[in-house]
Amino acid sequence: MSLTVLCSASGAPGATTAALALLWTWPQAVPGRRALLVDADPAGSSLLPHFLAAGIPAGGGVLGLAAERGTSADAVLRHAVSLDAGEERLVLTGFAEPAQARPLSATWTGLAEVARDVAAGGLDVLVDAGRIGHRWEPSPLIEAADVVAVVTRSTLTAVTAARSALRSLRESRGPGTKNTALVVGRPDPYTAAEVATALEVDPLPALPLDPAAAGALARGSGAGWRFARSPLLRAAGDIAASLAAQVQPLAPRPSVGAP
Ligand SMILES: Nc1ncnc2c1ncn2[C@@H]1O[C@H](COP(=O)(O)OP(=O)(O)OP(=O)(O)O)[C@@H](O)[C@H]1O
Ligand SMILES: [Mg+2]
Repeated sequence: MSLTVLCSASGAPGATTAALALLWTWPQAVPGRRALLVDADPAGSSLLPHFLAAGIPAGGGVLGLAAERGTSADAVLRHAVSLDAGEERLVLTGFAEPAQARPLSATWTGLAEVARDVAAGGLDVLVDAGRIGHRWEPSPLIEAADVVAVVTRSTLTAVTAARSALRSLRESRGPGTKNTALVVGRPDPYTAAEVATALEVDPLPALPLDPAAAGALARGSGAGWRFARSPLLRAAGDIAASLAAQVQPLAPRPSVGAP
């Protein structure tokens, strides 16, 4: 199973864009796996307006799932929309109004429980959890995640906020959990490696600023070689491969006396 949560700690560093970039690149970067992005930002979805403008059906999304009697992998897939004909990239859309996040605690718990079944069907789950520390944040998904990545810019203010977010994540998720950081943009002033050192996490490649690819991702219109080879998508592919490798279950040790 792989459940990866992306969140921000301050400002709007590009968490949703990073989540979409990972969704697009996941099937190529992680051979044999498809991906499902859960839009769980309690402050309201920034994807929905773009999807509506682009004519992408929103599906039942998180609210459709919440209206079901119980949460099952089938129900999750029924309420998700596919961004491609091969159904390799699915999105469970979020909600427009922050107030709609309040009654969703049971839905997040159910989703965290069925993430393993979804993964057994070949889909790794990515979650856009919005700003960490929000009153209605999807805590059950954050607790259950194989890895939580705090998306941050490299300014002093942003890194300070990311450090505090990582401290609370380590406390709430407990020892042995994987919590990391994903740097967006140019070194300003710190490089991704310096940020990783300051935050005491394993370094990941930085996600570059790439307005053309970021815009295409928001519109759900990623297509063509220019998009696929854009700096944003290439870096996202490397990050997806690195994250997936971090959360792969370890191969079972051969038992003593095995040939
Ligand atoms: N890598 C990038 N290259 C270019 N533009 C980007 C990149 N990442 C984000 N942006 C732009 O910055 C703005 C905010 O991005 P995004 O919505 O991904 O941030 P966020 O952290 O999810 O913010 P929010 O707190 O609103 O959820 C958008 O206009 C987006 O297109
Ligand atoms: Mg966002």
